[in-house]
Amino acid sequence: MDTVVSGIRSTGNLHLGNYFGALRNFLKMQRENKCFFFIADYHSLTTHPKPDDIHGNIKQVLAEYLACGIDPEIATVFVQSDVPEVTELYLLLNMNAYIGELERTTSFKEKIRKHPDNINAGLLTYPVLMAADIIIHKANHVPVGKDQEQHLEMTRRFARRFNTIYEVNYFPEPDAYNFGQELIKIPGLDGTGKMGKSEGNGIFLADPPEVIRRKVMGAVTDTGPSHPGEEPSEPVKNLFTIMKVVSDPATVKYFTEQHAAATIRYGELKKQLAEDIIRVTNPIRNRINEILADNKFLAKVVREGGQKARESASGTIRDVREIIGYKPF
Ligand code: TYM
Repeated sequence: MDTVVSGIRSTGNLHLGNYFGALRNFLKMQRENKCFFFIADYHSLTTHPKPDDIHGNIKQVLAEYLACGIDPEIATVFVQSDVPEVTELYLLLNMNAYIGELERTTSFKEKIRKHPDNINAGLLTYPVLMAADIIIHKANHVPVGKDQEQHLEMTRRFARRFNTIYEVNYFPEPDAYNFGQELIKIPGLDGTGKMGKSEGNGIFLADPPEVIRRKVMGAVTDTGPSHPGEEPSEPVKNLFTIMKVVSDPATVKYFTEQHAAATIRYGELKKQLAEDIIRVTNPIRNRINEILADNKFLAKVVREGGQKARESASGTIRDVREIIGYKPF
């Protein structure tokens, strides 16, 4: 049986990108594999959240995860900071992670550009903590979106490096997993880039229908194709990308043909897209509110999940210490 690890930062509500990029694949895998799903709350500290916000953020993301269909009876659902063993592996891996390779990471370079006032060491070593999250459970597969591909490459490199340095075959090299398909990038509604938590371009699973309609109707497009066969512009392609994951193929075909014939009305496309998004998110949104209200259930999930994750993590730490050369007196 393969092991699967997946995680999400507790820095904001789940959006369509999280769902279609990572979560949906995890859901498809949870029955056939040994699965770990966790909330990366240590990672969220790189952006300095206020102490008053930490717990609420974790709880919200946890409820949203569960509302999507993660089954805590079969998958191990936990909060990263409930398993402090990961920080020990992070420290140990840091000794063989080189500043040059960390500085070259795309996500780090992007963070420097966007937040030049907060370039902390946690950001630099973010991929090392992420690697520790994954290999501490000896994962084989990690369902993630396209934006995490480089982090997974680094994870494989750190796992391989450990095995090479200590001449062992201890850590498997996990792959970024999407059932043999290309990893997905769900674009935002602003015409450029990916959908993100803080870019103001996202549709959240918790958004009520009227908010979804408003956001989709306000999505960036263009003035329309001027002649048949014109290639769609970037913002329009983005709407089609979202449509491909939420709508049925006949709908995608209809609007693709309308565009190709230069007879498309973007208003009509957006209306349909909004309704199809609502169809996907509505049942999830209803469950989020039910689950959030059930604190007892949430407490049980993280208590039991934390215990199971610690068992798995502490076994690895025991082995790793021995491999590195720590011995009892
Ligand atoms: P995070 O919290 O940014 O996103 C969680 C998951 O959602 C995917 N995702 C997307 N996929 C497609 N299109 C998008 N627009 C989009 N936006 C987000 C991400 O690829 C990710 O799979 N570093 C991770 C959290 C993490 C983690 C881990 C993940 C920490 N340790 C170990 C897996 C395994 C992150 O910030 O994801």
